Amino acid sequence: MLLKDFFKQTVDHLSEQDVFYGHGVEEAEDEVLLLFMSVLNVDFSELNEMAKAKMKPGQQNKVNNLVKKRVQQKIPMAYLVGFSVFAGLKFRIDERALIPRSPFVELIDSGFMPWMDMSQSTKVLDLCTGSGCIGLAIAHYFSQAQVDLVDLSEAALDLARENTELLELGTQCHLIHSDLFSNVSGCYDLIVTNPPYVAEQEYQDLPQEYSHEPKMALVSQLEGMEIPVNILFQAVDYLNEDGFLFLEVGYNDAVLTAVLPEVAFDWIDFTVGGQGICVFSRSDLLKYRENFKQFLEEHVA
Ligand SMILES: C[S@@+](CC[C@H](N)C(=O)[O-])C[C@H]1O[C@@H](n2cnc3c(N)ncnc32)[C@H](O)[C@@H]1O
Repeated sequence: MLLKDFFKQTVDHLSEQDVFYGHGVEEAEDEVLLLFMSVLNVDFSELNEMAKAKMKPGQQNKVNNLVKKRVQQKIPMAYLVGFSVFAGLKFRIDERALIPRSPFVELIDSGFMPWMDMSQSTKVLDLCTGSGCIGLAIAHYFSQAQVDLVDLSEAALDLARENTELLELGTQCHLIHSDLFSNVSGCYDLIVTNPPYVAEQEYQDLPQEYSHEPKMALVSQLEGMEIPVNILFQAVDYLNEDGFLFLEVGYNDAVLTAVLPEVAFDWIDFTVGGQGICVFSRSDLLKYRENFKQFLEEHVA
């Protein structure tokens, strides 16, 4: 069978199944693209040129078996093929870390304008780095950036280390095992963070696909807000005078706003998609420090 016909057949079949798309892809076609790239061991542009090539029976079997696993075990496609594409870069991905899907990609694309001038030498902290996708993409696109990648999970850090090597970013990037800022020292021009922000109850109700991701990558106490507010409280001590913090809480932006009613949040508008990244200057973090502290003191034992 021609590749293009088998591709369409696979997309049609997957589209009819009860699966959830929310792990860096939006629809069946995106997943099948990843699948074909993996089975044929080609990149996107090579795959495009192969439309009229013949698909070998062995390759068809491989595709069919992976689709079966995707549907029966609800394993996200990125884990099945072992990679994901984020900010135009290929990352090794497995169950040690969250599958990349952050709207940070749009901020990276625009060079964090108008807040930052990434052509200058910039010290960056990617807190809660997981696979390293955000920090490594920053290092790749901004050669002046020096990036520290922090995670509490040793397993996630191992994966981030592998991605650092695969993307040949070892001279710009440094990995730190740390519970938030506890092993971090010095100050940064830019802190980016996509921390856990899902409430325990919400987690129980998520589609089955999420159960394959590390729970510690998703869940935070206090309706999901303990870790995000902790970051807001502590970040001021790790930012240079003109520095900025970008914090992602996804669809829980309304929850963060509700628990900190006195704080004027600056939520970023995205054109490509996604929501829930707010930005704070160091002086604004200082201004609201008491509010962050009060929330933590009232709710954390
Ligand atoms: C939502 S994932 C984000 C991963 C990656 N930045 C991304 O966008 O795909 C959150 C990450 O935070 C890490 N994490 C959880 N609690 C942490 C803590 N107290 N200190 C540092 N990292 C933590 C998890 O291990 C996980 O890798």
